[in-house]
Amino acid sequence: MAAQINPSILSADFARLADEAKAVEGADFLHVDVMDNHFVPNLTLGVPVVESLARATDTPLDCHLMIEAPDRWAPQYVEAGASSVTFHVEAAAAPVRLAREIRAKGARASMALKPATPIEPYEDLLPELDMLLIMTVEPGFGGQAFLDIMLPKIRRTRELISKHGLDLWLQVDGGVSASTIERCAEAGADVFVAGSAVYGAEDPAAAVRGLRAQAEA
Ligand code: DX5
Ligand code: ZN
Repeated sequence: MAAQINPSILSADFARLADEAKAVEGADFLHVDVMDNHFVPNLTLGVPVVESLARATDTPLDCHLMIEAPDRWAPQYVEAGASSVTFHVEAAAAPVRLAREIRAKGARASMALKPATPIEPYEDLLPELDMLLIMTVEPGFGGQAFLDIMLPKIRRTRELISKHGLDLWLQVDGGVSASTIERCAEAGADVFVAGSAVYGAEDPAAAVRGLRAQAEA
């Protein structure tokens, strides 16, 4: 698959979300970080904002739920217009049931792992997913330094995906920038979330194109 860049609106100006979404049209998905101040020590936005964003842009929404009780809330994000919904395995009561419910409602189902969560216990769940997200920072904030120690986990996950012959996207999120994206791509990631590297740039659309070119090099 060609490399995908998903700008994270966590680094955008929340008072101008529609314009900030339009500034990166041409990106594959817009990454929307939902935080509840319980699963992570930060609070962002919820279902009503996702509904409005879905109306404001043609770019499909990739909702990353950093929340407790995703089993209860994730389906509402599909109804709000998300094309892809990611829940954290550390918070999900029944990840297989939840992935099936997200798919049944018509969105791509994705599961995220915090840095200290290993992939190996979840090998048998991979066929239930459309994407796996490996966090390359502790979730909660944009602008953190990329954790190099996650590269072996990305590599092992790519091997598992190949071993099972799955069409599963492998996303990385946190500290992805011009200076780290090539390492992620080399390790086997194919979907790259970038917050500060896109919205901190003078021309966010050009930053998306630059990152994509680097990931595909
Ligand atoms: C962090 C979020 C990320 C964040 C990435 O918990 O999940 O999506 O926006 O921001 P950068 O790219 O600045 O690390
Ligand atoms: Zn995220």
